[in-house]
Amino acid sequence: MSSLKMIEGYPEYMRKSIELVERTRPRRMREVYRRLSLEEREELLRKYHPDYKPGTKRPLRIGPNRGDEAPHELADLLEAHPLVKPIDVDLSKIDIDTDLLIIGGGGAGLVAALWANQEGLPPDRITIVTKLRLGDSNSVMSQGGVQAADRPPDSPVRHFLDVMGGGHFANKPELVKALTMDAPLMIKWLEELGLMFDKDEEGNMVEDWGGGTSIRRMHACKDYTGMEIVRVLRDEVRNREINVVEFTSAVELIKDDLGHVAGAVLVNMESEQYMVARAKATILATGGYGRLHIQGFPTTNHYGATADGLVLAYHVGARLTDIETAQYHPTGAAYPEQIVGLLITEKVRGLGAQVVNKHGEQFVFPLEPRDVEASAFIRECWERNNGVITPTGMRGVWLDSPMIEIIRGEGTIQRRLPAMYRMYKRFGIDMAKDPILVFPTLHYQNGGVAINDRGQTDIPGLFAAGEVEGGVHGKNRLMGNSILDYLVFGRRAGINAARYVKKANLGRLTLNHVDEYEKMLREAGIETDRKAPMILPDYRGKEVLARKIDIFK
Ligand code: FUM
Repeated sequence: MSSLKMIEGYPEYMRKSIELVERTRPRRMREVYRRLSLEEREELLRKYHPDYKPGTKRPLRIGPNRGDEAPHELADLLEAHPLVKPIDVDLSKIDIDTDLLIIGGGGAGLVAALWANQEGLPPDRITIVTKLRLGDSNSVMSQGGVQAADRPPDSPVRHFLDVMGGGHFANKPELVKALTMDAPLMIKWLEELGLMFDKDEEGNMVEDWGGGTSIRRMHACKDYTGMEIVRVLRDEVRNREINVVEFTSAVELIKDDLGHVAGAVLVNMESEQYMVARAKATILATGGYGRLHIQGFPTTNHYGATADGLVLAYHVGARLTDIETAQYHPTGAAYPEQIVGLLITEKVRGLGAQVVNKHGEQFVFPLEPRDVEASAFIRECWERNNGVITPTGMRGVWLDSPMIEIIRGEGTIQRRLPAMYRMYKRFGIDMAKDPILVFPTLHYQNGGVAINDRGQTDIPGLFAAGEVEGGVHGKNRLMGNSILDYLVFGRRAGINAARYVKKANLGRLTLNHVDEYEKMLREAGIETDRKAPMILPDYRGKEVLARKIDIFK
């Protein structure tokens, strides 16, 4: 590989393919690739979407979702021994006594804390625990924007229909109603907190396209929307002096003898000592499971995304929903190796970039819903053999980013996608002049802990918000609805948990459910030395995941 001749960031052989992309561009600029029919979409999904690949899931053998399929990587954790042994924890010694415990310091946790406080809970009676630093999360890494139908001719009803269609109508309608009806309120709230949304010369918010949406509805802060949102949320939490405990992970929920969730066992990530947090209400805001690398895919997710919330909820008997589906974002970086799997925002396509194969030909409409778009990329690379193979063996298709400059004027990429432009520049690639190579990457857990429209789980005292909960997105989330999800359900969980706290009386603390879980494992004949939650991924001794993708072989 060291003998590869590099020309401005790409090896010479990849440049030959780029020449074809450039040659077909004038013709393609006049072409709109047709959208697939519903039947064509279904067929594509069935044949090429990783969710449909045989042998990648299994029915759970224990717990409230017994018999439901889950990806092996998640099933392994749900069928593992609880990390905490009750004998090692002294529940009579309370280290943190709080009214509301929020587990997770990303978008959902921050929003929940602020709205619980708004609802009347004093800041010193709310505690956020987070295993990394406050704000370290997928939320801070989100790029392309947040959907909200906040001006005609758009409407929450239209937004509702888009979300239901994108999720294959498996979504819980009452949750989608909450999501879409609350959206305008949440955008207004963020603006009032000082968020700098992109605006035009007249001061109107710029709205962009997202995959699977029927109208422009994406509100963004350039291509670092998550960074800007978390900036204002984190500032507000700090300003209101809400308790924050960093580098501390929740490893087991605690119940009381009335069956309510009553806090959590925490572990200090440095000293590895357990702490007991007693709380009248608990909100899970732990995010998703990208770092499980389902089917060996690379991921856009941060290091803490290890399904902890799903495991904790399952241990206390909370039901999960739609856990058999994962979201593969169509455009993960496929080259250079240093950034494989990182997110290339859908906004690149929203601004006009087409997707083309190694011959420079389009093969799919660029803004199909994510699952359909990703499946088309997989087919192009692995069945039709029309992908570009990188020096490390990744396959990918071209995202023809220079088209954005032609359609929208020189400088658009630096103005609208400054973070991405800079990222590629570091590797000698100018995405305003050359296309970039992409392939699907694990991005989101479509399902999660089942909630109602107040953010309550099936277990009294336990609420959930953000990526950890399920039911909102059905079998496939649309772009811009993850930020919206944590805003809407973070708010609802925060408000309703604060109301719950006012009436709650705690009984005696117990970890009996851990013993019961062990009993279920024994009775199901499950033998394993795995323990869960995982807390952080372990990459020691493994091959580089990106090189192992052979998903359709
Ligand atoms: O493509 C993106 O910017 C991702 C957005 C999302 O997952 O909502």
